[in-house]
Amino acid sequence: MTFEGLDGSGKSTHLERVARRLADRGIAFEITREPGGTELGQAIRNVFLDQRFPGMDGRVELLLVFASRRQHLLEVIEPALAAGRHVLCDRFTDSTVAYQGAGRGVDRETIARVDELATGARRPDRTLLFDLPAELARRRGSSHKRRRAGRIDRLDAETLAFYERVREGYLELARAEPERFRVIDSSGPPEATAVAVDAALADLFGEGGER
Ligand code: TMP
Repeated sequence: MTFEGLDGSGKSTHLERVARRLADRGIAFEITREPGGTELGQAIRNVFLDQRFPGMDGRVELLLVFASRRQHLLEVIEPALAAGRHVLCDRFTDSTVAYQGAGRGVDRETIARVDELATGARRPDRTLLFDLPAELARRRGSSHKRRRAGRIDRLDAETLAFYERVREGYLELARAEPERFRVIDSSGPPEATAVAVDAALADLFGEGGER
């Protein structure tokens, strides 16, 4: 299961909440994230977000996130699934289509080729897209906190127009794959979003609906 959206969309907070609910019910799961999830992935993440590389090309970004993703799949995700554990992942390939594709303008065909090479075009069973206007996400996100602390990362430095394209890229993905995606309006208070999240997962984890 993946949690997707802009920084400030609340995806990570809600991932933690879903995890607590699963733990309460004795359901086995693993929490992980991208880029990262492994020691190598974390090292790639640090390079990926480093402000020393402001001119990083979109295809270089693409290769870095997929390098992290392949290692993550091999080392963490596939073994967890094979052991019968659910995997709750903060971002996955949809982030790449939204950020590197819609945001940076890397063409879809190139992304699909690298995806095939790195993951065999692996997709989650369920993706929650936390959707809200880019401007509101900016005000809420940790990029805002990092900005105030003078520690913005390379992606925080992007324009509002970039984040609007990313949002649109996500929505386009959700429209193309309605069976996998659940679009959660996260522009309201967290309690309202939590209700929508529970509804979006009820068929997987609802009473009597466990797998
Ligand atoms: P995070 O702050 O949600 O952990 O994400 C780190 C940043 O990396 C965020 O700005 C989105 C970006 N990102 C991409 O551009 N492409 C990707 O494939 C992934 C996984 C993240």
